[in-house]
Amino acid sequence: MPTETVYGLAADASNASAVAAIYAAKGRPDFNPLIAHVTDLAAAQRFVRLDARALKLAQAFWPGPLTIVAPIADPAAVCNLARAGLDTVAVRVPAHPMARAVLAAFGGAVAAPSANRSGRPSPTTYLDALTETGESVALALDGGPCIIGLESTVIALIDGPPRLLRPGGVTREQIEAVIGPLAPADDDAKRSPGRLALHYAPEAPVRLDANAAQPGEAFLAFGPAPTGERIFNLSPSANLAEAAANLFSMLRAADYTAPTAIAVAPIPDRGLGEAINDRLRRAAGYVG
Ligand code: TXA
Ligand code: MG
Repeated sequence: MPTETVYGLAADASNASAVAAIYAAKGRPDFNPLIAHVTDLAAAQRFVRLDARALKLAQAFWPGPLTIVAPIADPAAVCNLARAGLDTVAVRVPAHPMARAVLAAFGGAVAAPSANRSGRPSPTTYLDALTETGESVALALDGGPCIIGLESTVIALIDGPPRLLRPGGVTREQIEAVIGPLAPADDDAKRSPGRLALHYAPEAPVRLDANAAQPGEAFLAFGPAPTGERIFNLSPSANLAEAAANLFSMLRAADYTAPTAIAVAPIPDRGLGEAINDRLRRAAGYVG
């Protein structure tokens, strides 16, 4: 199923055997919970308890690339396996019209992790999604390339201060404008259960903060740069939204040239740059 962020592998969130098939298709460890997707805030409130801060964020950013982790209210709506046994659930209202049509027709919550095999870059095109997990699915929907290209931001609103578990398509600055300051990035870096392993990784090693490629390397440029056979420019005009949209597909394209390594230009850490740098550090294996 296409979404505005990345392609997802979708199944009935209340059906444990359907959800088990998702974990199997991805080779995903079952301690890493899935996001439940619904059509709107009212549908979310049927199974999750959203406090005042969560409601403000939902009103500001849904439909869109924000996932809220909150206490589960109806455990049957999102099965234990989809929640990895937790008493919280991650919920998101996607903006992509095809995802919205699927959710509206289905009615219930749809569990959907990114459609990559576990540890690999998320697919942002129909073909990339088919390449990753296409052989496991009953039906694949072509919704074109994903406009945002990075996964949703995951924020936990359980008790105590809000915790940013994964930077993503909604920026820290946008969230702080609605609910006030968030804790510094380091405090939360390891809280989301799925964020522990090497992640988003192509086959080739990834070398960050590079100014140019060494012989044998592919290069992901950012801003004005020479062109060349193994040079992929995330955004010639140094636009972070464009770089986010190109990130995973260019990591793949660079990887297909079978380089000794993929060198990546420095990306500013503001706005969407926080999420881009998070994915790049994980692709490089820097985050334990
Ligand atoms: O943009 C997206 O969010 C995409 C599209 C398909 O919607 N989905 C996606 O799902 O990225 P996935 O499974 O690849 O990433 C979900 C993240 C993981 O890091 C997982 O650990 C975290 O959300 N998560 C899910 N449920 C959680 C929970 N109850 N508590 C903490 N983290 C949770
Ligand atoms: Mg994923």
